[in-house]
Amino acid sequence: MSVVRNGKPAFTQLHNRDPPPQDPQRTYNSNVGQQLKIAILGAGNMGGALLGGILKAGVVTKENVIATVRSEERANTLRDQFGCLVLTGGNRAAAEQAGVIVLSTKPHIVPKVVEEIRDILRPEQVLVSLAAALPIAVIESKLSAPMPVFRSMPNIPVVVEEGAIAYCFNRHARPEHQVIVDRMFRAVGVVCTVEEEMMDAVTALSGSGPAYVYMVIEAFIAGGVKMGLSREVSTRLAEQTVLGAAKHVRQSMLHPAILRDEVTTPGGTTIVAIHELERHGLRSMLISAIETATKHAKERSKVLAQKVAEG
Ligand SMILES: NC(=O)c1ccc[n+]([C@@H]2O[C@H](COP(=O)([O-])OP(=O)(O)OC[C@H]3O[C@@H](n4cnc5c(N)ncnc54)[C@H](OP(=O)(O)O)[C@@H]3O)[C@@H](O)[C@H]2O)c1
Repeated sequence: MSVVRNGKPAFTQLHNRDPPPQDPQRTYNSNVGQQLKIAILGAGNMGGALLGGILKAGVVTKENVIATVRSEERANTLRDQFGCLVLTGGNRAAAEQAGVIVLSTKPHIVPKVVEEIRDILRPEQVLVSLAAALPIAVIESKLSAPMPVFRSMPNIPVVVEEGAIAYCFNRHARPEHQVIVDRMFRAVGVVCTVEEEMMDAVTALSGSGPAYVYMVIEAFIAGGVKMGLSREVSTRLAEQTVLGAAKHVRQSMLHPAILRDEVTTPGGTTIVAIHELERHGLRSMLISAIETATKHAKERSKVLAQKVAEG
């Protein structure tokens, strides 16, 4: 959804309740979505959250999803929770049956999983990697034949279906594949597409972002407690303030600076606090944090690609 203000696009937002993006110039093959089967190879925290989200949203039924993990203990937990087929040591069997194969082991394991399944992959299947810092080229280097590959960066609020997910894809990905990938991720959050070179910035902003916001909430709580509020009241007020402010930004579609100005009464309490935040460089600090984290993610990506190349 593009928002136009003063004749210029202001924001681009894709919300999970918006319809999927459509390109009117191209014909989508709606059959691709029928009988969709998804394999989630490595259903840990992130893969498990995606599994729960797609089942809850009805993207697939439990008969049409297969998860794999390493330990029987984790497999049993997932079976009890979701009632779907969960295999240990069954990456090949799971991948063979699926149209979409999600790679959700730790990043250094993903190339090994691709090697393990590569001879049973078919060009009409779709690979979707969740692995942080793992370039598409590294995954492609492990394939026997070209196929659609998506690289995504979700974040941890997918566990409450409020994730922020950005993804990019290789040149074999077609619009109908993108429709399916969108459907899958929109079950657990808001979805954006970016160029692959922007994935490090995504990692720094929304991938790591929940940790920064948890710190903000933690500090709000401490501030309330310092001023005499109970821990419980402080926590409820802090979490709802962050949730409410984010929702207000989204729903008003106004720049946050405008919203900030609207609540800043001349000579009032808010401007006194804002002055204090500016004195300590709040905005500059956050911009620097994202800049530094982007550089670090870029570096990690190079190191990971190097390690995979060295075997
Ligand atoms: N967590 C996040 O906030 C986050 C954010 C963005 C991206 N990601 C990406 O998501 C991926 C998963 O991260 P995570 O935090 O969910 O890790 P995790 O909880 O450790 O999950 C990894 C899962 O992979 C399973 N596994 C290990 N080796 C396997 C193999 N050879 N075949 C099949 N399954 C195997 C493990 O099974 P067992 O449980 O039985 O050991 C585990 O369930 C990573 O690539 C990460 O970069 C995570």
